[in-house]
Amino acid sequence: MMDGSAAKILIIEDEKVVQDIFRRLFRSTSYQLTFFDRGDVGCLEFEKNPSFDLVITDLMLPGLSGMDVLKRIRSLSAETPVIMVTAYASVDSAVEAMKYGAFDYISKPFNNDEVLMVVNKALDRLRLVEENRSLRKALNKKYGFENIIGHSTAMQEVFDLIHQAAPSNATILLRGESGTGKELVARAIHHNSARKNRSFVTINAGAIPEQLLESHLFGHIKGSFTGALTDKKGMFEIADGGTLFLDEIGNISMELQAKMLRVIQEKEIMAVGATHYNKIDVRLICATNADLEKMVSENKFREDLYYRLNVIEIRLPPLRERMGDLPLLVDHFLRKFEAANQKKIEVVEPSFMEILELYAWPGNIRELENLIERVVVLSRDGTIDKGLLPPNFIKKAQGENVFVPSLDFSMSLPQQVQALERALIQKALKAAEGVQKHAAELLGLKTTTLNEMLKRHKMR
Ligand SMILES: Nc1ncnc2c1ncn2[C@@H]1O[C@H](COP(=O)(O)OP(=O)(O)OP(=O)(O)O)[C@@H](O)[C@H]1O
Ligand SMILES: [Mg+2]
Repeated sequence: MMDGSAAKILIIEDEKVVQDIFRRLFRSTSYQLTFFDRGDVGCLEFEKNPSFDLVITDLMLPGLSGMDVLKRIRSLSAETPVIMVTAYASVDSAVEAMKYGAFDYISKPFNNDEVLMVVNKALDRLRLVEENRSLRKALNKKYGFENIIGHSTAMQEVFDLIHQAAPSNATILLRGESGTGKELVARAIHHNSARKNRSFVTINAGAIPEQLLESHLFGHIKGSFTGALTDKKGMFEIADGGTLFLDEIGNISMELQAKMLRVIQEKEIMAVGATHYNKIDVRLICATNADLEKMVSENKFREDLYYRLNVIEIRLPPLRERMGDLPLLVDHFLRKFEAANQKKIEVVEPSFMEILELYAWPGNIRELENLIERVVVLSRDGTIDKGLLPPNFIKKAQGENVFVPSLDFSMSLPQQVQALERALIQKALKAAEGVQKHAAELLGLKTTTLNEMLKRHKMR
């Protein structure tokens, strides 16, 4: 029905006259009607063919009573609305039918408008339910694992860990530099857990002033401090049944750390100004870029809390340690921003990719994503070349950057050697202010050899 096809209605009614009334009533609609005159046969048909969108059943039927038909359909499909047809006299059965989950009831003799209205209402609700389901699906896809890009060994380890960790209720600690995908991974874990249909709430401990953080987390009671004009729910309560993502956990005070420890151990919270604890059921995912171990040794972070948070630790590698993933990531973001900007990128010049490979990426994937958005927006005639890069970016990539081979195995040895070779040539050319003869001298090469290398690397 979601695809706009006509609604299929199963009508179980033993009186031919009433069947005809239904036929006439729905003549002006596109609904497809299927009739049965026995309760048991109607149910069997529903079992065989569960594509019916709606069931209308009489109460008094041979084979199986309307009430039993209702119970049967309910157990076969929780969502298909069932409308009961009752006689005026049987208010009790109407009430009973509603109790067993009928969508509504219509009474004989029919008021045509009323019947049409009830049927349309039932179909509207079904559409909503289906829409909701497909939105959920889209959301789960958006935050699914397939949106976390990376084939490097470092990322394979991350994938293994999150696959294992997601379905459990275990507390997770995500570590990694800014822009490495901590929040992305936290969402993916939530959307691949049993809690996926409940809320995912994020709170950034680094962005909220210390004295407000406690009330943000646990809520407060009206009048508990100046400015607390009403009762307010905290993030833990809002996330009840779901997942709470607590970003920059290294930023919380010792006092709040003690309270967090209690939440994790006792699974209960106390709002600011309240006098009793409330039970909560929240999965906690924390993230940090801080050196928590050092903080523990300096008595800035509670050791007991550290162990509680660190049940499963996932370290997200910085981009410079997984440069083998660069082409995949570039491709992923190109497609994303092509779609967003209604552009088609046909060519990515090798010289563009070379500069990207030289760069150290302090801002990691976020920085790369922003850069690709920029070049897609600026690109003309479907080509991406290094002319689209900010001059400063090129300078940094070629200048300051001393190439440090990434010590994971995301790039093969020949690839790493090639990249190192390019980086050294760039550096020499820069130092020689573009004079190839001088650059060759610096590198201890013949000018002709350097020339060959430049061609091979497609460098100018
Ligand atoms: N592996 C990845 N594949 C695709 N996109 C990614 C990946 N990692 C990060 N991103 C994207 O990069 C951006 C930054 O990621 P995210 O916000 O999760 O980083 P973060 O670690 O939480 O950063 P910060 O510490 O600064 O908050 C997001 O738009 C995210 O979708
Ligand atoms: Mg983040």
